[in-house]
Amino acid sequence: MPYAHITGWGMAVPEKVLTNADLEKMVETSDAWIRERTGIRERRIAGPDEYPSVLGARAALKALEVARLHPKDVDLIICATSSPEHLFPATACLIQDAIGASKAGAFDLLAACSGFIYAVHMAAQAIRSGAIQNALVIGAETLSRITNWKDRNTCILFGDGAGAFVLQASDRPGGVLAAVMHSDGSGGNLLILPAGGSRLPASIETVTNGHHYIYMDGREVFRFATRVLAQSTLEVLEKAGLRLEDVRWIIPHQANYRIIEAAARALKLPMERFIINLDRYGNTSTASIPIATCEAVEKGLLKAGDKVVFNGFGAGLTWGALVAEWSGPLPSATRPIHVERYRPLARLRSWLRRSIRRLEGLIWGRKA
Ligand code: COA
Repeated sequence: MPYAHITGWGMAVPEKVLTNADLEKMVETSDAWIRERTGIRERRIAGPDEYPSVLGARAALKALEVARLHPKDVDLIICATSSPEHLFPATACLIQDAIGASKAGAFDLLAACSGFIYAVHMAAQAIRSGAIQNALVIGAETLSRITNWKDRNTCILFGDGAGAFVLQASDRPGGVLAAVMHSDGSGGNLLILPAGGSRLPASIETVTNGHHYIYMDGREVFRFATRVLAQSTLEVLEKAGLRLEDVRWIIPHQANYRIIEAAARALKLPMERFIINLDRYGNTSTASIPIATCEAVEKGLLKAGDKVVFNGFGAGLTWGALVAEWSGPLPSATRPIHVERYRPLARLRSWLRRSIRRLEGLIWGRKA
């Protein structure tokens, strides 16, 4: 049975920064309150042309570059997102087209902020079964478009961004070692987007009467999160036959510093063992774990051979954890790809395909 290794990683965040001081001008809040209750200082906000697929494609190409894999070598794309542009087509398909992954199947996975863990697990299982060789897993969000900027309970928390992993089959032991997934739909109303997607016209406000915004019972979600983060970590380690001492890093979903602190206390681990960057990005839902991972690799913290636990929780309610032995690019990966050179080619290919489809439509239309 092949092993599923994480061989590439990439992230993309919008340039625009929204600080707590900016939020003070929008709702009745303060920098001190937000920092004390959440640990967040600032977050990124998508520009007018930035959607989950745009950020997701950028992160995906970077991940492929690290793995030294061409987009056309990808067999499967799973995009975990809580703010898909549309219900369909899937954001994963938009990314597939944008990067020119012409041989890949693509679908979205909706498990809210736990989505990235679920998606990596699904991709790893597809590789372990022998069904596929190479997978791209993406977490991509423009939560700013489904955030009610008049609701101080929620608007201080969320941010935009994307992160991606490449998973590849190899006979070498390591990679994804175990995962656990849980859900409890009875808490579905605690964190909910009643209607719509993230690419709606501004006029939608009058149609949905505000139901296309996130609604949250913060206190209940907080209670739930502090309970499951430590629990799922211990559960996944038991499943992998590992002890907490074997783990070098914990990379949690970046929702709230106090939630991570509570998990650290429950696990009796120092905060230094947790990778945390929520102060600069806020809660980017499915993107938070891969973004934190990318920064940890960039800083030289996460090294090949390190055992790392990823754990998350979110709307659904859902939660889960995954333990992996960090791999780095496979030794057989030799083909360098250059992201900036590849992107115009993918755009050209996409334009050609669309033109051919139109031409075929015209020809068949005339014949009919
Ligand atoms: N600025 C200032 N005051 C605020 C505020 C803000 N942005 N948001 C809420 N408050 C007020 C509340 O209205 C409340 O006032 P009241 O006592 O007069 O009613 C007070 O602060 C305390 O509210 P409370 O909800 O108890 O605060 P909290 O310590 O639980 O922190 C959250 C609120 C939202 C930060 C916290 O509950 C949380 O992080 N929950 C989890 C959310 C999450 O992670 N969601 C995503 C999951 S993937």
